[in-house]
Amino acid sequence: MINKIEKKKFENILKELDNFKNKDFDFSSGKIIGSMCTKPHDISIQGYIKFIDTNLGDPELFPGTYEIEVYLKNFILNLLNAPKLAQGLIVSGGTEGNITAMWLAKKLSKKNEIILSKSAHFSFKKIASLMNMKLITIPLTKEYIIDIKKVKNKINDNTAAIIGIAGSTELGTIDSIPQLSDICLDENIFLHVDAAFGGFVIPFLKKINYKTTDFDFKLKGVNSITIDAHKMGYSAIPLGVLAIRKQNWLNKISVESHCTNSEKQTGILGTRSGGPVAAAYAVSKFLGKKGYSKLIGDCMNLTRYIESEIIKIGLELIIKPEMNVIGVKIKNLDYVNKKLSDLGWKVNKINRLSCLRIVVMPHLTKKSIDEFIPILKKVCKESGEI
Ligand SMILES: Cc1ncc(COP(=O)(O)O)c(C=O)c1O
Repeated sequence: MINKIEKKKFENILKELDNFKNKDFDFSSGKIIGSMCTKPHDISIQGYIKFIDTNLGDPELFPGTYEIEVYLKNFILNLLNAPKLAQGLIVSGGTEGNITAMWLAKKLSKKNEIILSKSAHFSFKKIASLMNMKLITIPLTKEYIIDIKKVKNKINDNTAAIIGIAGSTELGTIDSIPQLSDICLDENIFLHVDAAFGGFVIPFLKKINYKTTDFDFKLKGVNSITIDAHKMGYSAIPLGVLAIRKQNWLNKISVESHCTNSEKQTGILGTRSGGPVAAAYAVSKFLGKKGYSKLIGDCMNLTRYIESEIIKIGLELIIKPEMNVIGVKIKNLDYVNKKLSDLGWKVNKINRLSCLRIVVMPHLTKKSIDEFIPILKKVCKESGEI
């Protein structure tokens, strides 16, 4: 029970929070067009709230929440064609998934070099710094994917892992993971696939008959995969999964856990909310593979529409998008991006490629794109771009 004064205080704090929230940009406005996140599905939001007070760092206290975690991991392992002995680890997102994968690769190989492409996510820079590992960066081909020949040249006695990207942060490109898989099998090297973005896209692209690249455990050389539910899984932040080929590898990244009810704790985090797990469970149950296929199909249809509208106004794309990520060539990048931002349109800029990045997430609609394109055209005309 709270008294009158406390009630007033309570209400005032909520009002204060609303004021802060009102300063934020809102996915529902349709004007956030460069983010890899989205407003979670309603069922995901409701599921989250129900489990806000649970702690998966102590599963003995929360056996129901733990059951949800097991279900969710199995859903994702199945999506990734994982073999029977595989296992999943819930992580906070792509960064933690990649860090944990490299922790494992380093432990298994006792080596410390990571071969990866120029378009790998910057989380690998954190990994190099945190774990004293060395990044061997490979240039991209003209398709903006890792150059396989150059990968072969860089393998040596110190190679701990090779990274394949399935849905790059910059352009949504997919490396030739089948070829990387063959190389890693031949050379006995750990192959980690960063599918933080593409993990919830590529399996469904296949189902709706888009031509795409294999990236999952069907390829025998793939040892681990990062996949995020808080990106294209339509779920709440923070939720990713690191899927690994062999359950017993978990021993390498486990420690004895005194003061909890379990003997061991695996992975980086200790206390972990069950909220995001329940959120991802709820949306994966609600949509199922059929629902996700429809969602991805809709995002791809809108992607194709945006591509054609952008070309119509005289701009060029960096490459034909393989998934729902579009890179638009812009010479006067800072000016165009700032102008769009001042007008309320939040696109991302990729300086390295001199392009604007549009990510066609579920909150985008044809209506908002039809509003955006004339504004983009006007801004590009002003800057002398077109
Ligand atoms: C391919 C890829 N990997 C990893 C990450 C990092 O994910 P997070 O920001 O969820 O840690 C991202 C984020 O955009 C990504 O695109």
